[in-house]
Formats: sequence, C-alpha cells, structure tokens
Amino acid sequence: MKINITKSANSKISELDFDNLEFGRIFSDHMFEMSYQNGVWKQPEIKPYAPITFEPSMMALHYGQAIFEGMKAYFADDKTIHLFRPKDHHKRLNNSARRLCMPEIEESVFIEGLEELLKLDSAWVPRKHGHALYIRPLMFASEEYLAAKVSAEYQFYIITSPVAAYYSEGFNPVSLTTSENFVRAVKGGTGEAKAAGNYGGSFLPAKKAQEKGYTQVLWLDAVEHKYVEEVGTMNIFFLMDGKLITPQLQGTVLPGITRRSVITLAKEWGLEVEERQISIDEVFDAHKNGILKEVFGAGTAAVISPVGHINHQGESITLDRDKIGPFAKKMFDAITGIQYGKVEDKYGWTHPVKLP
Ligand code: COI
Repeated sequence: MKINITKSANSKISELDFDNLEFGRIFSDHMFEMSYQNGVWKQPEIKPYAPITFEPSMMALHYGQAIFEGMKAYFADDKTIHLFRPKDHHKRLNNSARRLCMPEIEESVFIEGLEELLKLDSAWVPRKHGHALYIRPLMFASEEYLAAKVSAEYQFYIITSPVAAYYSEGFNPVSLTTSENFVRAVKGGTGEAKAAGNYGGSFLPAKKAQEKGYTQVLWLDAVEHKYVEEVGTMNIFFLMDGKLITPQLQGTVLPGITRRSVITLAKEWGLEVEERQISIDEVFDAHKNGILKEVFGAGTAAVISPVGHINHQGESITLDRDKIGPFAKKMFDAITGIQYGKVEDKYGWTHPVKLP
C-alpha cells in the first residue's frame, strides 16, 4: 500500500537543542498515521506531527486497549540511518496486539512507514554517540462507544523524538528496590505484552520507590514474591559465578529485544548464559559470597544501564563501584557499536535506511 505523504511546511528543528536532549519531550516534524475501520487498515499517511481529536467516549480511554513499541534510529553516516531489529519490534507489536484483541499490522507497512518517516525527518537523528532518535509506534482503540467489549476501530501512529540517556544518572549506576506490596504482572496476564496499562499500574510503586531515593522498582514474581522478573523499563542481568543469568520469559516478563541481543553476544563471547528463575535471596547470597560481579539492565530506551544498589526488605547490597562495570561497558560498546555501524553486524540486526 502506497503511503500518502504530506510534508510539513514549517520545520520545528531550529527549536531543538541537540546538546540538551530530554527523553521524549520534543517530537520531530512528521508522524505516521493509519486507521482501522470495518475490519481493514485504511490508507497509511505521513503528515505533520499535530494534535489528534477524539471524543471522551473513545474506548481506549475507558478500557485500556492500547499498546506501543519503543525502538531507536541511529546516525551511521550522512547518507545512512540505522534502525535496530525493526522486524523484531514489528513481531512484538503484533504479539501485543493479539493479546489485547487488536488488529495486526503488516510487516511491509510497518517497515516502509518507518523508512519514509526517517527519510523525511533524518535531520532529527542526533549525531552524537549515545544519542538516537527514539521511535514510538502506538495503537489504541478508537471506537466511540461505552460498551465493555473489543473495539471495532483503531488508530496506529509512529512518532519520533530525539533522545539522550533515559535515566538522569546517564551511564552511572541506578539504584533499585523490590516492592513489598505491589506486583507488575501475573502469569496469564498482560505482562509480556507492551500494553499501556502495564506501565500505568507500575507508577504508584515506582513513585513510592523514588520517594525513598531509588530510581526504579525491581519487580518480583506475583505468586511467591521471591523470583526476580524485570525493572519495568528494562530487563535485568546478573553476572555471577562466571555466568550471565537473566530471568526466563514465562509470560510475566517483557521479551526485550536488547535482552535478546545481550544473550546472543554474551554466548558469542563464550560466556555461559542461563535464562532461569533467580530468586532475590540467591542474588543477595551471591553478593555475600563475593561471586556477584555485576548487575545491569538492558532495554531500548535504557540501552545498558548499570545497577549499583539493590534494596530488598530493608537489606541492601551495593556493587562496589560507582561506575559501570567492565562487562556491562563491553556490552554497551558492542551493542551501540553495531547500532551506529562502527562494529561488524554479524547477525543482520541493523536495517540501514539510505537517505536520498
Ligand atoms: C523502551 O525501552 O523503549 C520502553 O518502552 C521503556 C520505557 C521508556 C517505557
């Protein structure tokens, strides 16, 4: 399907200070838009980024049928922008759509939409290493109807925003706490989908954690409140006892694309990787026994984010450094090296977009 393109008459790029980027605050000139009605996706469009109108009865506002993705585009050279694993993001978007009873999107429409959007807004892709154009595809139920049922209409958008580091700590270690009273996801729920409601539900516990000085919540399983799951904005990895350990995917953890890339690279480097249940007690014991070497998170927005401190029920462990550990740094350099086209991409993860 050909995308209708309407170019913006007034670029806002002169308002942007590339040296002081805040995550997700400023949006580039264009957006991709597509509507679903009568059982089909209609003509896709790229048009100037602008407010959208809807009635207060729009179903997404009432019943939370809303999903999104988070991906990034990287400046490779004056003629090339790299998307990172866009087909994997497309697959995950469709997995989320199926879980929330929403219509799937064709891969070719998704990829072409991204390519055309990037060609139009290539000047918005930051050039500095570590900075990128964050891409936010999103879909929501747009039927205007108060019945609690599956919506018959949807809107799909792709918007983009130039970004620096996600956490204000930048590359410095973040500090996490488990939550005694709250859980993020249960098996059979929506935890493995990128559903908007998963995030909304995590804000109260995250706010309480932040009031106590922690950056984020380290989620434990909802049944035994014992096994580590994820951080909500990133997956979690423990380098201990000569192995890399990360919680397995069993329906409650977001299947991160950076997570998968970390696992692939660690195995390539000869490290044993275990995707398995890991209890918070095992992590604390490993620290006591001196075998917990590094803890770090991995996610699109966060990339690789070192964890310096974990609190669990008033007991704390501090990884004895105030900067990123050597393994996390090596992983950050390898992944960003591939993303920016500076390191050989053996796995075909980068999707180059050639600029006209
Ligand atoms: C991402 O890493 O892209 C996310 O979606 C996490 C967050 C900013 C909500």
